[in-house]
Amino acid sequence: MDVSNGFEFFEETTNAEVESFFDSSPPLKDGDEIRRRVEDFVGKRCSPAVNERNNKVVCVTSGGTTVPLEQRCVRYIDNFSSGYRGAASTEYFLKAGYSVIFLYRRGTYQPYCRDLPDDPLLECFDVLDGSTVTVHPAHTEKVRTAISEHRAAIRGALLKLPFTTIFEYLQLLRLVALSMRCLGSRALFYLAAAVSDFYVPWESMAEHKIQSGLGPLDMRLNQAPKMLSVLRKDWAPAAFCISFKLETDTMILLKKAGSALKKYKMHMVVANELLTRKDEVIVVTESGNFVVQRDKTRPGADVESPLIELIVDRHSSYIDSV
Ligand code: PMT
Repeated sequence: MDVSNGFEFFEETTNAEVESFFDSSPPLKDGDEIRRRVEDFVGKRCSPAVNERNNKVVCVTSGGTTVPLEQRCVRYIDNFSSGYRGAASTEYFLKAGYSVIFLYRRGTYQPYCRDLPDDPLLECFDVLDGSTVTVHPAHTEKVRTAISEHRAAIRGALLKLPFTTIFEYLQLLRLVALSMRCLGSRALFYLAAAVSDFYVPWESMAEHKIQSGLGPLDMRLNQAPKMLSVLRKDWAPAAFCISFKLETDTMILLKKAGSALKKYKMHMVVANELLTRKDEVIVVTESGNFVVQRDKTRPGADVESPLIELIVDRHSSYIDSV
């Protein structure tokens, strides 16, 4: 990667790089079972009998991937993302009638549980008389809402797949994307996960914990292949694809989002700046940019609500146009 004036110029990802990444990745644990669940979930929505315009499926990716430094991993490099965006967006997609495959980083925010305290089990519940479990009055409403909305929304419409490492994430994304091909334009990818740009290839990774006390650690990281163009070209060419661009410098944000739109042939790129990401995003499209803001006059309103409204509208137009 060449980095000049703060801009990255990625070479086009080659098929060889993609193949080499997957060939050298440790196989997914329970890969066959995950494939069966994904194919079952998507298959129900692919068959001609249910092939209606409204039978739409979105893959929401959420949270950051890790890059292990040791095969028996003690240390790793992480990518920032709390998973709030993905969890909130999943709720709004379900509300809009989508089926959702929620590809999320273990331990990050979950749909319908965003407003619960950090340690919900200990903070929300009390034990009375040594045996009866009750909800603490201060949290009753939040717990009731979380449980009832979750139950109503997920009946068969939400499939959750956890990941931790970049190896797991990219293998899962490929598996899901290939399964979703049969949906054609009814498939939507909403790629909010923060994915590692560099990784240590599995075969050159130390097996055991790297020992300290040997002086500075010298380690070479390979560039992770950008899978966005592969997704568009090969995995799910008819799907509507939305990627995200996170920057901390607003001066370069829109330029980079615009480059990603063109380079990876995305239908939309959602540009956000780290500190203001919960208040505002800018949706970059070929036909112009749309500023989407949280309604600050409404307590508890989030930016994901108007964002998903816009996306659902654009995805419907896309389905009609192809
Ligand atoms: O989770 P929250 O705390 O709520 O925050 C949400 C968010 C800020 C993480 C989210 O809105 C966001 O911007 N996610 C993408 C952040 C990011 O790291 O972007 P990037 O510049 O690394 O990647 C841009 C796009 O390329 C992403 O859609 C990613 O899926 C994709 N990518 C990245 C690296 C890689 N090797 N392959 C990829 O396909």
